[in-house]
Amino acid sequence: MIEKILRRVAWRRDLDLQHVDRIRKWGHRHYVGGDTSEAWYGIGKRQYHFLASQGLRAEHVFVDIACGSLRLGQYLIPMLEEGNYFGLEGEPDLVKAGLEHELLFDLADKKAPRFAYNYGFAFEGLEQFDYAIAQSLFTHLTLDDIETCFRNLRGHAHAGSKFFSTFFEGDPQVNPDAESHANKDWYYPFEAFREIGERTGWAVEYIGDWGHERDQKMICATPSGH
Ligand SMILES: C[S@@+](CC[C@H](N)C(=O)[O-])C[C@H]1O[C@@H](n2cnc3c(N)ncnc32)[C@H](O)[C@@H]1O
Repeated sequence: MIEKILRRVAWRRDLDLQHVDRIRKWGHRHYVGGDTSEAWYGIGKRQYHFLASQGLRAEHVFVDIACGSLRLGQYLIPMLEEGNYFGLEGEPDLVKAGLEHELLFDLADKKAPRFAYNYGFAFEGLEQFDYAIAQSLFTHLTLDDIETCFRNLRGHAHAGSKFFSTFFEGDPQVNPDAESHANKDWYYPFEAFREIGERTGWAVEYIGDWGHERDQKMICATPSGH
């Protein structure tokens, strides 16, 4: 218990370090919130089974927005057909660690996952996608950045595309008065996402509880105006 509290204090103290330094210091799993087996494998498996239950199949083109160190990719890259996994991530070191340490045998080569690295939601090299998820991304972003993500992804959607994302449901008054930050938390009411969807060409539905280990809620966006 004491050890856990001390780690928490140290984690907070390091929030002002550069991202690359925190990844090096805390490790690629801890950086994305996967510091326990339950959080690393549990949240990865939950995403995988959730997406399969929503109809994701091997032949679909899938976008993992803020794919981190491949907590989901460790399951989906082996399952999807070659070239069908596309990850967007701000920190290349996380993806590098994921490919090296989380994918076994020769799957990182054989399945040819594709990646784009930037913080501006530029889905460079992506054609149209079938399914996408942003898991534990909007929990760390301001509304302006969330809107950019919805707007840019819309350009790659077809009539049947589905975009799932998670968020912390709550009162935005508790939010940091700061720029988006991968290790700080933001809370929003569902209504905020519905309004962003209206401005950016998506119909957004509330799914809510999906058993997430940290009580993040799920929403689903489908293109409107087709
Ligand atoms: C809590 S982690 C979740 C990662 C992954 N979705 C998962 O389930 O493990 C948040 C991730 O978002 C990435 N990130 C934060 N802002 C981003 C942005 N604007 N564009 C791309 N990646 C971003 C961080 O680098 C980090 O990998």
